[in-house]
Amino acid sequence: MTWQIRRASVADLAHILAIETSTFGSDAWSADLLRSELASANTYYIVATPVGAPEIVEGYAGLMVPPRAEEADIQTIAVAAEVRRMGLGRILVRALLSEARKRGAKQVFLEVRADNPGAQALYAELGFEEIAVRPGYYQPDNVDAVVMKLVLAPRVPGPAVGVQ
Ligand SMILES: CC(C)(COP(=O)(O)OP(=O)(O)OC[C@H]1O[C@@H](n2cnc3c(N)ncnc32)[C@H](O)[C@@H]1OP(=O)(O)O)[C@@H](O)C(=O)NCCC(=O)NCCS
Repeated sequence: MTWQIRRASVADLAHILAIETSTFGSDAWSADLLRSELASANTYYIVATPVGAPEIVEGYAGLMVPPRAEEADIQTIAVAAEVRRMGLGRILVRALLSEARKRGAKQVFLEVRADNPGAQALYAELGFEEIAVRPGYYQPDNVDAVVMKLVLAPRVPGPAVGVQ
């Protein structure tokens, strides 16, 4: 399966909301909150569309990365249930990390439900480490949040092309 990743805009709200509500249940963000996230100058949201079917959205992810901030936050990520475990989540997180690095962030943080080992495994695989637990952070379920952090490696300039 291959996807095209592109920057999301408010025009993608309905597609994103459909995955958001079916995925997160009582934790789902409202249309208003998602709209303001998509419209914010401090965020970078992306969507994944299957190659050849740009009208279908199968996953999305968002980063909060204010100008000149050294810290970025992964705000959310979700992949449509029918295409999970095919590598799209990894692609989306890597795309956010690459944008965070490009914008000069040095560290990336996120919160994940303590009862979501799949997402924790994805983040750990990409280098995130658990740094704290926020008891009862997710309400009304009363589930703890695990706070994870990744220190971004500085950008290494590529070798000059055509120079001996
Ligand atoms: C978490 C989520 C985004 C992962 O997306 P995905 O496309 O299924 O993940 P990938 O296929 O890229 O998985 C990459 C790696 O992450 C780990 N991983 C992902 N889902 C996993 C699961 N359910 N159980 C265990 N490990 C998992 C594995 O190491 C996997 O590699 P592998 O398949 O080669 O073993 C997706 O499951 C999802 O949308 N879940 C519901 C929403 C959610 O929980 N979002 C996170 C909120 S913090």
